[in-house]
Amino acid sequence: MNEIQRAAELLRAGELVAFPTETVYGLGADASNAQAVARIFAAKGRPQDHPLIVHLPDASHVDAWARDVPEAARKLAAAFWPGPLTLILKRRTGVPDAITGGQDTVGLRVPGHPLALELLREFNGGVAAPSANRFGHISPTTAQHVQDELGDAVALVLDGGACQVGIESTILDLSAGEPAILRPGMISAESIADVLGAMPAGSGRADAPRVSGSLDSHYAPRTPLELVSSDGLVFAVRNAIISQERTAFLASMAQPIHHELITWKLAPTEPAPFARALYANLRELDALGCGRIIVQQPPQTAAWLAVLDRLRRAAA
Ligand code: TXA
Ligand code: MG
Repeated sequence: MNEIQRAAELLRAGELVAFPTETVYGLGADASNAQAVARIFAAKGRPQDHPLIVHLPDASHVDAWARDVPEAARKLAAAFWPGPLTLILKRRTGVPDAITGGQDTVGLRVPGHPLALELLREFNGGVAAPSANRFGHISPTTAQHVQDELGDAVALVLDGGACQVGIESTILDLSAGEPAILRPGMISAESIADVLGAMPAGSGRADAPRVSGSLDSHYAPRTPLELVSSDGLVFAVRNAIISQERTAFLASMAQPIHHELITWKLAPTEPAPFARALYANLRELDALGCGRIIVQQPPQTAAWLAVLDRLRRAAA
């Protein structure tokens, strides 16, 4: 039995298996097994009313989980799956309440990572998987992150290297007429509009707890995090030195002043590589045990929307 077959066996036995996706690592359980799904909530320390995304091997599985599937969903699935887009659809009866948080909708996606797809095909069903971190903490983008945080709670962690997208999928609600983005991600409103012919509503500010990623103070390091404009960075460095506070910076601009109290991590200048490295960078800076993490505020443009959303929540 190879590792994928073993992982699928464990899922069938109601165990938790962490696996890589292109966005972040997921903490997986058999989505049709309410007891297995309950273990996810226990491992994460996550409130019960927060719904989970069901990961599928391909779009042909959608109708096993959703009803009244609109044409828009078929088009988007054809355009973006496998990939970082989650569709919220009306749930079929029989989908466990533990998955949907008792709502009449279900979140579905086909992830774009070869190991995830191998696992899902071998399992041949839906795998419920939130990000494999403790509730409210930074999502994991390597197998080591998962080991560090949830190692004891999972039967197996599949190692698929570092995640290529690095932040969670775009969540698009198609369950209530007008399409609406509940959580921005690297699949933008504009690229969804290219497929649907109209811009979706919303910019990721849905009400909690329908989308736990929409809670303020999410994706947060333990060290207090602050966003500072590029103009304010030199002042922030001086301030850290004057107040004798060890401070970590994540910035695309070069370090202006060198000092033993200052750790300076260079950030990529483009949104995709910035997102790819973001959570690993935050974990690294968090582990330094500084008094503060200061992140240079990226440009306030559409291309940076998803990154800005995660930074704003990490700072909350
Ligand atoms: O990229 C991702 O989406 C990653 C990987 C593992 O696939 N998963 C992820 O899961 O971010 P999680 O649980 O950390 O965030 C899923 C989000 C939550 O905010 C949840 O509330 C929302 O999806 N969600 C799931 N089902 C929903 C539903 N029926 N209605 C509204 N929001 C839903
Ligand atoms: Mg999460």
